[in-house]
Amino acid sequence: MHGADSSRWAASVVGFHWLMAILIVVVMILGWVAEEYPSSPDKVTLFVWHKSFGLTVLLLLFFRLLNRWTHGAPRHELKSWERVLSRGVQGLLYLCMLAMPFSGWIINSAADFPLNVFWLIPLPPLVGPSETLAELAEEVHVTILWIMVSLLVLHIVGALRHHFVGKNQVLRAMLPGTKEGRRQ
Ligand code: HEM
Ligand code: HEM
Repeated sequence: MHGADSSRWAASVVGFHWLMAILIVVVMILGWVAEEYPSSPDKVTLFVWHKSFGLTVLLLLFFRLLNRWTHGAPRHELKSWERVLSRGVQGLLYLCMLAMPFSGWIINSAADFPLNVFWLIPLPPLVGPSETLAELAEEVHVTILWIMVSLLVLHIVGALRHHFVGKNQVLRAMLPGTKEGRRQ
């Protein structure tokens, strides 16, 4: 399915993009709320949701990349700096989607907490207990978080700039629900 003549992303690519965008925002909000919450059973519950949805991001990422590799991308007339910058930001966003769940999983493992995804699926620790490693992984988790937030600002400003300043199809090609030219 490498139909490169289409001006739109395949519906499945659009579906993964927006499903994961919503999920990642929810995971971030849960992380911030859980972090600020006073120590209580509710705080633990918030963290279980945070970790479970965070690991769902990791699972979906795997299927998303498989899906992306089996579908063509729309062609846009872009300047070479726009192409390099957008590819770079998008590639780094994929890396963040991988690094956030893994660094979180390492915090959890090193801190010697049980990990029960949605209270149902027990996952093994990735590393043995270590206070130093838990602290390091926490720093990594939060540093990558802020890198990811900055990349998202660039990504969203870029998308809006294409739409409102460049007045091109880049954003429209990633929006759901337009009938014209949709490929499955
Ligand atoms: C897309 C995936 C993820 C994102 C975007 C994310 C984001 C966040 C955010 C925003 C915070 C609060 C940071 C702060 O205010 O200091 C946080 C904290 C935390 N997250 Fe995640 N997270 C993700 C995945 C995970 C996963 C899969 C786990 C564990 C299995 C996890 C474990 C933790 C822990 C233990 C903390 C508390 C760290 C601390 O005490 O400073 N996260 N995360
Ligand atoms: C957590 C939020 C988001 C993440 C993690 C994310 C991530 C990504 C990634 C990785 C790609 C590259 C797709 C590929 O070529 O494989 C992409 C494409 C795209 N995203 Fe996002 N995105 C998010 C939110 C948004 C938002 C809010 C907008 C619109 C304002 C947006 C607009 C776009 C557009 C227009 C493309 C296509 C770019 C192109 O054709 O080169 N994204 N996004």
